[in-house]
Amino acid sequence: MFNNQSVLITGGTGSFGKLYAKTILERYNPKRIVIFSRDELKQFEMQQEFNHPCMRYFIGDVRDKDRLSQAMRGIDYVIHAAAMKQVPASEYNPMECIKTNIHGAENVIHAALDNNVEKVIALSTDKAANPINLYGATKLASDKLFVAANNMAGGHKTRFAAVRYGNVAGSRGSVVPFFKKMIEEGADHLPITHEDMTRFWISLQDGVDFVLKNFDRMKGGEIFVPKIPSVRIVDLAKSVAPDLEQKIVGIRPGEKLHEIMCPADDSHLTIEFDDHFVLSPTITFRSSDNDFTENKLGETGKPVEQGFEYNSGSNNHFLTISEILDFHEKADV
Ligand SMILES: NC(=O)c1ccc[n+]([C@@H]2O[C@H](COP(=O)([O-])OP(=O)(O)OC[C@H]3O[C@@H](n4cnc5c(N)ncnc54)[C@H](OP(=O)(O)O)[C@@H]3O)[C@@H](O)[C@H]2O)c1
Repeated sequence: MFNNQSVLITGGTGSFGKLYAKTILERYNPKRIVIFSRDELKQFEMQQEFNHPCMRYFIGDVRDKDRLSQAMRGIDYVIHAAAMKQVPASEYNPMECIKTNIHGAENVIHAALDNNVEKVIALSTDKAANPINLYGATKLASDKLFVAANNMAGGHKTRFAAVRYGNVAGSRGSVVPFFKKMIEEGADHLPITHEDMTRFWISLQDGVDFVLKNFDRMKGGEIFVPKIPSVRIVDLAKSVAPDLEQKIVGIRPGEKLHEIMCPADDSHLTIEFDDHFVLSPTITFRSSDNDFTENKLGETGKPVEQGFEYNSGSNNHFLTISEILDFHEKADV
């Protein structure tokens, strides 16, 4: 798919973008990989590590459509990973979150259409399903923009899809590195928001591989959701410190007890495949195939039962404490 092709990653210096670039370099012979992000220091540091001749570094903000359009010249595939993603920061600075996550998405779409990019995949999050915080709400708006963009393509070949997944084990600011830091600093207990809290759990490499695969699967208009395990927060704490006391501190504003990836209200749109779900569009596309039960790889799925919800609290796969330890060792967390 990516041999002799040009790929642009918005947010290419982030955790996802870096591993995505590394994985493409290891598995394919791309013509160009363009890293698009704002901070010159992060790009400088990435250049020390990723200096393959096909690598290009563009300083730019997804809020700036002209710059995005310039960076997308001759690009075949775009992965849109740039985002403002911290829930509290988004609540305190709502317009900043809207500008990056919604206006940024719109700019990516227009730049991709202007440059006749072949396929675009935007990263979404479980927080976009039935959102209760602004971060999730902006990601839902972004998902809607990318889905509807397939109707804007007109004579262009560009197709857009989104990938929605849950917590990335060990990502910046997430719970396991937070617990580990507390332990290093000699904490006498670990704070637990709620004893019943659960989360979907995915490794960064599995997230990258899922996105890669969906470039082959997509027709345009899908929201792809991987089938992944859930974890209980109390088990995560026990996995890093089996003997340390846990204290319940209460759910923080903007947090849910359980996360959802496919809401019950969307069950009439949800199609189940062997290892993933597809949320098919609420709208009809004028110029393309509207049947999402078969993908471009020929894999077939079945509509789920009315009312089905893919929820981290009722998932049929929970990791045990020893499985969490194995998972973290494999994922280098
Ligand atoms: N981590 C998770 O647990 C998780 C779970 C589900 C979904 N996701 C989604 O996955 C995507 C990638 O997440 P990540 O964990 O890789 O995030 P990350 O490590 O925080 O990286 C974010 C990247 O986006 C860039 N960026 C931020 N604002 C930008 C802007 N306005 N213009 C251009 N670039 C900008 C950042 O670089 P600069 O600051 O230098 O611009 C950085 O390269 C996000 O869309 C996120 O919503 C993440």
